[in-house]
Amino acid sequence: MRKKVTVIGAGNVGATCAMFLADKELADVVLVDIAEGIPQGKGLDMAEACPIEGVDVKVVGTNSYEDTANSDIIVQTAGFPRKPGMSRDDLLMKNYEIVKSCIAQAAKYSPNAIIVVVANPLDAMCHVALSASGFAKNRVVGMAGVLDTARFRTFLAEACDVSVENVQAFVLGGHGDTMVPLLSSTSVAGIPITDLIEADKLEAIVDRTRDAFVTRARASMGISADRPDVALTVRGYIGLVEAATLEWIDTRALSMDAFAELIVRQALALFSTVL
Ligand SMILES: NC(=O)c1ccc[n+]([C@@H]2O[C@H](COP(=O)([O-])OP(=O)(O)OC[C@H]3O[C@@H](n4cnc5c(N)ncnc54)[C@H](O)[C@@H]3O)[C@@H](O)[C@H]2O)c1
Repeated sequence: MRKKVTVIGAGNVGATCAMFLADKELADVVLVDIAEGIPQGKGLDMAEACPIEGVDVKVVGTNSYEDTANSDIIVQTAGFPRKPGMSRDDLLMKNYEIVKSCIAQAAKYSPNAIIVVVANPLDAMCHVALSASGFAKNRVVGMAGVLDTARFRTFLAEACDVSVENVQAFVLGGHGDTMVPLLSSTSVAGIPITDLIEADKLEAIVDRTRDAFVTRARASMGISADRPDVALTVRGYIGLVEAATLEWIDTRALSMDAFAELIVRQALALFSTVL
């Protein structure tokens, strides 16, 4: 029998997560959100994309936790994202209430699930989920190290002008100021990173990884500090947004307006039902 994954929160992170789950045919997916109509619309779009992708999974959107019953995994993305200038910790009180209520409801219907927390501030929200679910601690995990490591590798590949596939790196610690990109374990095709990038540039890359640096392009589009993840929202422009550094735009002589228009046009084409 196919596995069932519930994704709580049908926003940028949740919808992206649901889409990847479906695309990779990993599980049937239930997308649940408090906003009426939104998870249903996004779920329908994804279900309709399955024949195109040649995958066979069920994707449904809902406002009811009853539909999430007997999930194997619950992914908690519901919660406010940061706005420019905010730290992840600034979200603490707002997201505490959201995570507590979502997890309590989901855990009731899926008492044997594993919970993957994504909402920020991640380290604190994991503890909220642990307590709200009453699950054993080995069934409540947080997602961040993978993303932090991926960001670090992306920035290093950009700086060295090499493929990300050639960059080996590892990021440990919390998802915030206590994040530790391990320079001693970072290399490009086996060459220590400290031999390839000057110390001050390396420090800037480490800071950018910790802060999830917001480029002017992202900010100008109203995209929040966490929005490297938006890069994953619509498959068609993953590369485009992920590459959305000022340098990238400059080298293509694109104006900010032209860049924003490009993004919106592609999003409209891909998410026509929702938008
Ligand atoms: N761990 C990580 O590495 C990581 C990475 C990116 C984002 N985040 C965090 O993930 C969270 C979501 O980010 P986003 O960009 O998807 O935000 P978003 O605003 O796009 O989506 C949030 C969604 O949560 C929904 N929601 C709010 N309250 C709810 C409730 N009580 N019940 C159900 N749904 C509810 C909203 O309707 C919205 O659709 C943020 O807290 C963000 O900081 C974490």
